[in-house]
Amino acid sequence: AENLPLYNKKVLITAGPTYEAIDPVRFIGNHSSGKMGFELAAAAHAAGAQVTLISGPTHLENPNEDIKIIRVQSAVEMYNAATDHFSEVDIAIASAAVSDYRPKISASQKIKKSAETMELQLVKNPDILASLGEFKKHQLLVGFALETENEEENASGKLKRKNLDFIVLNSLNDSGAGFKSETNKVKILFKDEKVKAFPLKSKREVAQDILNEIILLLDE
Ligand code: PMT
Repeated sequence: AENLPLYNKKVLITAGPTYEAIDPVRFIGNHSSGKMGFELAAAAHAAGAQVTLISGPTHLENPNEDIKIIRVQSAVEMYNAATDHFSEVDIAIASAAVSDYRPKISASQKIKKSAETMELQLVKNPDILASLGEFKKHQLLVGFALETENEEENASGKLKRKNLDFIVLNSLNDSGAGFKSETNKVKILFKDEKVKAFPLKSKREVAQDILNEIILLLDE
């Protein structure tokens, strides 16, 4: 295993959606299936890395028993798990679709139907990736951006604000890209402003492309 490109490297990956509880039966969530993150974990493991995968609720099974999976529900739980492990790792990849807000109050009993309208007050969740960007020392840090408009501009803003080495942009305007599908179409934006565009591929191949870019940066 010593000749594998990520031998002796520790990799942290976030994957899947987060569920933000409204009451014991309802939540705010999103369409992430976790596929992109689980493929990244499998590819990093195959490249020789020691992998910790922090996943929100998904139906996916651990791709390899040597991968350590920490299953969480909410953004706050994902934040706690990610910040607990970050100082030990060499590489972190944030592919999770984290809810930006959570209900201010999570009711302890099922909310009853009554008035014609009801309001739900939301509070901001911690930004996991931005926090890792602040804590970053030797780590290589990679984020994702899921955009629906001004894609490159928004992704490049996140790259800088969150102190990343590169960001993987996928757009909901490209068919076969983003949530749930077996495929994805990405552009990688680097902190030196270089951009690499990739064709539509399986998420397995996209994961390999992302790891190849990480390996190239480590070799520099
Ligand atoms: O799971 P799949 O169905 O395979 O779909 C894959 C995917 C579309 C979810 C994935 O490819 C992807 O794009 N993940 C990031 C989705 C997202 O929420 O992007 P964002 O632009 O809102 O966030 C930017 C970055 O900050 C992301 O790396 C995100 O993980 C991170 N973030 C965001 C908010 C927050 N509170 N904490 C975070 O860490």
